[in-house]
Amino acid sequence: MNFRSLIVTLLNWLVWSEQVQLLNGIGIKNLDRTWDSFKAVQIPKQFYDAIEKSDFSKQSLQNKLEHFLEKLQKNLTLSAVLSNSEDIVTNERNYLYRMQELSTFFYEASSSFEHFSSDIKIFYETSKNASYALLFKLRQVPTGQPSIVKVLLTNYFAEMEFFHVLFSEIIDEAMEYSTESLRSIQKLFVYYADTQNIILENWKLKTNPQCCKLYINFLQHQSSQIFKCAALDNLNIVYDVYSVTKLNIKYIMRQLEFRIQRLFNCLLYKSLTLQCKLLKSAEQDLRILFSNLAELDMFLDIKTKKGRALALRYRREKTWINNQINFEPKPDDCLPIGFPNTQMSTDLKECFYFLDNVVQQ
Ligand SMILES: *[C@@H]1O[C@H](CO)[C@@H](O)[C@H](O)[C@H]1NC(C)=O
Ligand SMILES: *[C@@H]1O[C@H](CO)[C@@H](O)[C@H](O)[C@H]1NC(C)=O
Repeated sequence: MNFRSLIVTLLNWLVWSEQVQLLNGIGIKNLDRTWDSFKAVQIPKQFYDAIEKSDFSKQSLQNKLEHFLEKLQKNLTLSAVLSNSEDIVTNERNYLYRMQELSTFFYEASSSFEHFSSDIKIFYETSKNASYALLFKLRQVPTGQPSIVKVLLTNYFAEMEFFHVLFSEIIDEAMEYSTESLRSIQKLFVYYADTQNIILENWKLKTNPQCCKLYINFLQHQSSQIFKCAALDNLNIVYDVYSVTKLNIKYIMRQLEFRIQRLFNCLLYKSLTLQCKLLKSAEQDLRILFSNLAELDMFLDIKTKKGRALALRYRREKTWINNQINFEPKPDDCLPIGFPNTQMSTDLKECFYFLDNVVQQ
């Protein structure tokens, strides 16, 4: 330490001990009544409820998607789909029922995506609110503080407000990324399920074993392609972003809670020399939290940029030639161009009365 910084340190120390004496001397004895509400600074209960809820919907979604590829393999075999009944009507009914099961799966999964997305959103919004609620506590320090305390509190408040703004921005980033990813998977699943229903209802599939086999193979292949493309890599990124963000938010909240409580305690119990240093050096006190935030930001940046690149890679232009189906294809999902027609073999196309007619016209 050189001479100059020694003097600065000494001066700082002098100023500080002066402030401490001021605080001790003036005291806050007359304010006891108004301090009651600060004896327990707490993260709002909604915060923990929101975590529990979004964890639960994440688990439900994971359960829903678990072993999808194996189940698909098992469900869509000719023997599973066709009962061995001699009765053609029964056979046909059973077949249609089995086919519907697959589209039902995609509808149900899409609603699991929707729940998870909306619960993530609520959790992130609640986190921002909770951070604000903690911040707001500082504003409620009873008036009539010695002016030196006021200055220090104002300074600390400004620093925390800045932290809150950054925190909210980063949370928004995570929220936007997650909800958009989930929404696009959800839309794709609904679209895919709708397409299956329309084929079943309007295209009039011939139900001879050869055609059943062709259509089953088609569904088997397309379903697994779409699932792998939309719900494996993308979804893992969403899970990662969720877990890491949640972990950081929890840590940050506890730290904020702890710091504000400590602040109140030191004002309340006047143990100024030991603990109230933090009031004096707000920047120092929040430095770890700021660096925590910076790390989270970096993590999100890396994860979500990769996410965007992946989404772009799968982005395909689509033309929807069949005017019988009135759905708009989504530009950013995993559907091949012109799905489903482009993906069907000539043999399979001949299995639909509807397409037969179109071809003949
Ligand atoms: C497979 O069949 C079971 C029972 O019939 C059904 O509950 C499930 O949703 C089906 N899964 C898929 C992926 O089709
Ligand atoms: C967050 O706070 C705003 C404003 O007070 C409120 O409108 C909103 O409902 C709150 N959000 C959650 C999820 O608690």
